Amino acid sequence: MRKPIIAGNWKMYKTVDEAKRFAEEVKERIPSAEAIDSVICVPAIALDSLVKEAAGTDLKIGAQTMHWEKEGAYTGEISPSQLNALGVEYVIIGHSERRAMFGETDETVNKKVKAAIRHSLHPIVCVGESIEVRKGGQTTAVVRSEIEKAFHGLGEEEASRIVVAYEPIWAIGTGESATPEDADNVCETIRNVLSELYSETTANSIRIQYGGSVNEKNIDSILAMPHIDGALVGGASLDPESFLNLLGAVK
Ligand code: G3P
Repeated sequence: MRKPIIAGNWKMYKTVDEAKRFAEEVKERIPSAEAIDSVICVPAIALDSLVKEAAGTDLKIGAQTMHWEKEGAYTGEISPSQLNALGVEYVIIGHSERRAMFGETDETVNKKVKAAIRHSLHPIVCVGESIEVRKGGQTTAVVRSEIEKAFHGLGEEEASRIVVAYEPIWAIGTGESATPEDADNVCETIRNVLSELYSETTANSIRIQYGGSVNEKNIDSILAMPHIDGALVGGASLDPESFLNLLGAVK
């Protein structure tokens, strides 16, 4: 059985004080980590405070990106060992906004995934098609290629530590979520690709989230789908009550 995982991706929202207030408000009301992994991926400036704020609770903290090197002359970047030192547990890798605006490629995604695993971080690896790709009937080909490249060179045990987030680019921040059936079909395709790359046991152990305009209204129908193990949520994760309701949707 795969444990559900709901992760908020706050993107470039909230000051450190606002982030701390959010954590204070939700941390004692997070469902047990035995039943669900509850994560917020916060701006880098808030990581330190939030790890401290969430210590000893079931709320887990993640970063939104990182570099693949341990240290070096990489102005503005954050390394996996720096995340380790803070006590961060998760890191989003290859979000479409980073691919589109900050030069992230399938190759850098793969380097970052390997670095995250080396440093015992849980990578949440994002894949997903643009509207042009979808209209052109190329969704499966694009998602397959992103998965193959992200997992390139990783063994069974390493692969099993990865969370995949299927985020169709056209559904991000648009209010237009994929239908649960469409999302489920692509997540099934992802698992099929994983079972070509790995054993059935490993492929079946990898959790696959859906992301793209998930909210309190549509999360039930999304989580009801057999191939979807959770959600990666942007806008609807910014409000404490809304975030708690999203977690509460896991039955
Ligand atoms: O990573 C989460 C994301 O890209 C989806 O954002 O605002 O559509 O939930 P949103």
